[in-house]
Amino acid sequence: MSSFEIESLLHENRRFAPPAGFGEGAWIKSLEHYRELCARAEADPEGFWADLARSELHWFTPWQQVLDWQEPTARWFVGGKLNLAYNCLDRHLQTRGDKVAVLWEGEPGEVRALTYRELHAEVCRFANALKALGVGKGDVVAIYMPLVPEAAVAMLGCARIGAPHTVVFGGFSGDALRDRLIDAQARVVVTADGGWRKGAIVPLKPRVDEAVAQAPGVAHVICLKRVGQEVAMEPGRDHWWHELVASRSAECPAEAMDSEDLLFILYTSGTTGKPKGVVHTTGGYNLYTHITSKWIFDLHDEDVYWCTADVGWITGHSYVVYGPLSNGATTFMFEGAPNQPDPGRFWQLIEKHRIGIFYTAPTAIRTFIKWGDDWPARYDLSSLRLLGTVGEPINPEAWMWYHRVIGQERCPIVDTWWQTETGGIMITPLPGATITKPGSATMPFPGIVADVVDREGNSCPPNQGGYLVIRRPWPSMLRTVYRDPERYRQNYWSQVPHAYFAGDGARRDEEGYFWVMGRVDDVINVSGHRLGTMEIESALVSHPAVAEAAVVGRPDEIKGEAIVAFVTVESEVETTPQLLEELRAHVVKEIGALARPEEIRYAEALPKTRSGKIMRRLLRSLASGSDLTGDTSTLEDRSVLEKLREG
Ligand code: WTA
Repeated sequence: MSSFEIESLLHENRRFAPPAGFGEGAWIKSLEHYRELCARAEADPEGFWADLARSELHWFTPWQQVLDWQEPTARWFVGGKLNLAYNCLDRHLQTRGDKVAVLWEGEPGEVRALTYRELHAEVCRFANALKALGVGKGDVVAIYMPLVPEAAVAMLGCARIGAPHTVVFGGFSGDALRDRLIDAQARVVVTADGGWRKGAIVPLKPRVDEAVAQAPGVAHVICLKRVGQEVAMEPGRDHWWHELVASRSAECPAEAMDSEDLLFILYTSGTTGKPKGVVHTTGGYNLYTHITSKWIFDLHDEDVYWCTADVGWITGHSYVVYGPLSNGATTFMFEGAPNQPDPGRFWQLIEKHRIGIFYTAPTAIRTFIKWGDDWPARYDLSSLRLLGTVGEPINPEAWMWYHRVIGQERCPIVDTWWQTETGGIMITPLPGATITKPGSATMPFPGIVADVVDREGNSCPPNQGGYLVIRRPWPSMLRTVYRDPERYRQNYWSQVPHAYFAGDGARRDEEGYFWVMGRVDDVINVSGHRLGTMEIESALVSHPAVAEAAVVGRPDEIKGEAIVAFVTVESEVETTPQLLEELRAHVVKEIGALARPEEIRYAEALPKTRSGKIMRRLLRSLASGSDLTGDTSTLEDRSVLEKLREG
């Protein structure tokens, strides 16, 4: 973010109180109510979480200890036994059996509604099918699917029998899938023949075939027939979903899981090489996603709730599937693109399904702004009562547009800051309580102790930028990095003394509001998706023509950041425009379309420090066309810079 933007945010002084009357019907009714909860959590953090865990969730066996904290290892609700799928399904059957749990629309327009009773039966059949393949407690199942109800069925089926899942976003390439299958030691892959995206079929099964050929631990592939595409099926290894579940019983007891049993692994980008497997466990995750869904989205029985994320991301895990279903809500899923068949599709869906709560990413909002106000104006958006954003900082102008055009100045906006690692929303308004300021995620959720600090861990004075940290363990925090506890300690608990280091820069204003500025590490945020610059660099250098590569983010009006790469080529290689195209395609093959560089530039050499580190700061300035400010004295060879500038 430029200093100009920071400056303008400092002067953002518009304020929006909750709409009149909203608080009355809301779970959290007022600022006083919010403050009471915070005070209660402050006075007795363990008692605060324990009371909620007791009143909000079903436990087979109560815990003996609320929290066992040996920095950096947390164990929540020690000795307690529960099942997430039970909390999402079984306990609603009595009261909400015929209520729609999952409402879904495919890109071509077909609609499906699964009631809690139907979803429960589907999940049980699928869980029994997994068991029939020999999958049991602790066996990792990878899920690589389009956004169809079966993706949720597969996740819940795994949770039901205690098989940890690792969901891989369907936009990742076969190579990226392979790396995750190997790291997670997955035994089974659940996929589909393909999915619909922008009117075309995204072929998933062929990518699975490629990946599984190099991941020998995978014994079975379960394939859903979604698009009717011809696919190769390997006898013994591959099974059609519909055949596998056909004869299975619709009853499958939910396994009593230990509160700290592994629930899922989700890969996310970090500063170093390969994506890391973020580990979440059962009890704390269930509680925190449940209570944040309830209080932040103010879920009530008559609401239809739509979070536009794919289940391949943490937002899809916590706020499409587990949080809403644990609350007995109706969660809406849409498979396709927002401009298929035209840019009015989302608004048409809101009108058609009477969506009340809508949660999306700032990058989508900026795209809608570009498409123009006419599209939303054609539809009846009066069902909306609450809006949310997630994934990146929202610029105040996009916030104002969302408020005015979509919310029609009637709906509170919750700008929610959180991460794959935090499991659930950490800093956010509560819609009936918080006075919002466009561009600020406002205040921590009750029980969350967030701060902005310097490297030594001292709190920064108001309006001074620093590192965003969390000072106390919370129920849904990541437990470790899968099979790499050292990386967990190093990344999150060693940067600032005795605090969780989020990797984001932020400041607090004089009223204590948090303004998150973005990553302070080598992670870039493209359309709300996290990508490690190192990851893209390794993809580039794996091409034989490339000698060295450096990747940086450039501010982008729609995507937040765009990927710009600088490459040096091997000596005999010709620097043609065709090669640049080939390199872009190569990154797509290695990682997926989401990592396709916007621009690749040839360089004779890359600017490095004397110790050999690439000076990304200089490249960032070059990529965005801004002046080269700051210190260049550590640069090893100044002529490199001159050449890059000319090039
Ligand atoms: C960024 C997504 C500003 C941040 C849930 C964080 C945000 C990263 C916000 C996590 C927000 C997320 N305001 N920045 N409301 N929400 N971020 O793991 O940089 O995909 O560290 O989790 O997104 O991305 P992740």
